[in-house]
Amino acid sequence: MKSASENRLAFIGSGAMAEAMIQGMLRCGVTSAASIWASGPRPERGCELSERYGVIGLTDNREAARNADVVILSVKPQRLRMVLNELQGTVQPTQLVMSIVAGARIAFISEWLGTPAVVRVMPNTPAQIGEGISVWFATQEVTPEQRELGREMLTALGEEVEVDEERFLDMATAVSGTGPTYVFLIMEALVDAAVHLGFSRRIAEALVTKTVLGSALFARQSSLHLAQLRNMVTSPGGTSAEAIYQLDKGTIRTVLSKAVWAAYQKSILLGEALSEEEPRGERPSGSPPSEHLEERGEV
Ligand SMILES: NC(=O)c1ccc[n+]([C@@H]2O[C@H](COP(=O)([O-])OP(=O)(O)OC[C@H]3O[C@@H](n4cnc5c(N)ncnc54)[C@H](OP(=O)(O)O)[C@@H]3O)[C@@H](O)[C@H]2O)c1
Repeated sequence: MKSASENRLAFIGSGAMAEAMIQGMLRCGVTSAASIWASGPRPERGCELSERYGVIGLTDNREAARNADVVILSVKPQRLRMVLNELQGTVQPTQLVMSIVAGARIAFISEWLGTPAVVRVMPNTPAQIGEGISVWFATQEVTPEQRELGREMLTALGEEVEVDEERFLDMATAVSGTGPTYVFLIMEALVDAAVHLGFSRRIAEALVTKTVLGSALFARQSSLHLAQLRNMVTSPGGTSAEAIYQLDKGTIRTVLSKAVWAAYQKSILLGEALSEEEPRGERPSGSPPSEHLEERGEV
């Protein structure tokens, strides 16, 4: 078995998530900078990553993927078909393919590349500071060594949860993958409300950020149900009761539930749109589905 620093990782797509993963993996010593290859269309982005982390930045996806132990697909969903088409014949069945592309199903990736060992992951952006949570599913063909390497890579981003059915990935996309968006929006609204009361924005941001952080840590450390924690600060006829009355009147729970459901449906839709595309690049007529994806937008 290889030592950690010998694992060669190839990022196909070197954007925000790829950078977060690179940072985490170097921090945790999953591999050495010289063993990380990151490819993307813009040479200046490759130079930026090389200068910042010492990794090998390049513009040739095939060159990056060739001989890598793990090929990480980290492009946006609408670029995936193009990338898979390009990598056909380069990625070998012995290589592990790890996809973080929202919605993209394993069968689709596996069929296009002809590789059975695929791990599908849904990370989230707090991964950038090692505080993310990644939900992942691995095919049966992933060897125990590859599985451990995959787990190690994801631990470098924060916590990891392995699931035994791929369908949980669409759910995770809606809950934890998209989750920071909900939290940031709520935080932003609270900051605006605090500014409305008369606080400076600086103080408002400090109050809201620490309240969210402290509440999350408190909830994690406490053995109490979330409703019990909330009840602890809800005195009869008090300020919390008054605020909760308004939140319920504004149907906050329904709105959040609808938002999560919509994100879940969108993830399924992205997967379906991608799966409509036939491997080997043959489409009978009409515009390529990737264009439809582009039109519809993405996660
Ligand atoms: N961000 C999140 O919160 C999050 C969470 C979970 C999962 N994801 C998934 O992670 C994936 C990447 O997201 P991201 O936020 O990192 O997006 P991003 O910052 O836009 O990164 C995508 C990268 O792919 C590059 N790219 C475009 N076409 C390419 C091609 N043909 N070959 C190689 N690289 C190409 C882009 O280069 P240019 O910039 O030059 O176009 C860009 O650097 C997405 O599939 C997303 O669903 C994201």
